[in-house]
Amino acid sequence: MSDAVLAPRMSRVRPSPTAVISDKVRALALRGLDVINLGEGELDFPTPPHICAAGIAAIERGDTKYTAVAGTPALKAAIIAKFERENGLVFQSHQVIAGTGAKQLVFNALLATVAPGDEVIVPAPYWVSYPDMVALAEGEAKIVPCHEADGWKLTAAALEAAITPRTRWIILNSPNNPSGAVYTREEVAALCAVLLRHPHVLVMADDIYEHLVYEGTFATPAAVEPRLASRVLTINGVSKTHSMTGWRLGFAAGPDWLIAAMETLQSQSTSNPSTISQAAALAALNGGVSFLDDWRGLLCRRRDLVLEAVRGIDGLRAAKPTGAFYVWVDCSGLFGRRSPAGGTIRDDFDVADYLLDAAQVGMVPGSAFGSPGHLRVAYAIDEKILKTAFEQIATACAALT
Ligand SMILES: Cc1ncc(COP(=O)(O)O)c(C=O)c1O
Repeated sequence: MSDAVLAPRMSRVRPSPTAVISDKVRALALRGLDVINLGEGELDFPTPPHICAAGIAAIERGDTKYTAVAGTPALKAAIIAKFERENGLVFQSHQVIAGTGAKQLVFNALLATVAPGDEVIVPAPYWVSYPDMVALAEGEAKIVPCHEADGWKLTAAALEAAITPRTRWIILNSPNNPSGAVYTREEVAALCAVLLRHPHVLVMADDIYEHLVYEGTFATPAAVEPRLASRVLTINGVSKTHSMTGWRLGFAAGPDWLIAAMETLQSQSTSNPSTISQAAALAALNGGVSFLDDWRGLLCRRRDLVLEAVRGIDGLRAAKPTGAFYVWVDCSGLFGRRSPAGGTIRDDFDVADYLLDAAQVGMVPGSAFGSPGHLRVAYAIDEKILKTAFEQIATACAALT
């Protein structure tokens, strides 16, 4: 067949824009160009050796077969212990599930619960995958813009105004990708107070960047407001905090009925997450997070380096983010300027394209995250490379007239 015939649902989904930028960077690198990728949402640190060793030991022991769909009893016990130790949340075994990355758990939760026409509140800027996952589940993402004046965070008033009888979920993500914003306990409490008045709304807390907080403290809705706990799904994983993006291991905890439905979906799609990754995640969860002090120190330095560089470039602006490893750069000051080749920069896509060409630095435009006029700088790369990237960006911006 010459023309591919796709299901209608494929018209509702775009390829992940972060993967698109990485593919572009890889394609340029194949042509021999030395492109710096500030688009990738992962740490450059190697996975800690004790975690790798646990994965290798699993292979050598022959732990290479199917496990229970929702994870081994040992991993589930470690997930339960993590939630109790770090978040003060108490779960039973049937209330937790391990999956192939936090991404699969977000997807399964939405697919299991969203009916055609249901609304899912997604504060913008948002992680690129939420709206497309909602669309695949035949729901409608209700994008609620957040503002710089509120630190890019959803306010209680905006949440209240966004809730309708069709609202199925609100997705909260703190620390936030892409803004780096961290909700304070008081801010989470204010949102929870609204949600208490709307018992039909489920709450998804995407806590994947939990340990990457540089100022202030992390707070998660189920712990801040225990009266909400029966309708909160708390999602987390080892990808970001343990530098294990490629191991594909996430976990979630929430009400029995929801976890059971997510497990059913998983049993008919991917089954258990990789046995080897489960063994590694067990070591990660039981092994402590003391190495994170060093990582946070390095990341904080890189963040400050980016902020200083951005502030030195006419046309770019950024506030200080307190979590994750992203700086959210306002690039609207460059709009209307002309490139040496004669093109006019009109929007954040043009800025990203221009900087990829002229500075050989890849970044994801803010429009991909629902907030045009911005660029997301992922700064989890070597400091020297980061410095070079911003020297090149500064030169390219200075060439605009
Ligand atoms: C906010 C957010 N949630 C979830 C994920 C997915 O994490 P995982 O690698 O565990 O699937 C990401 C990855 O970029 C993310 O930024």
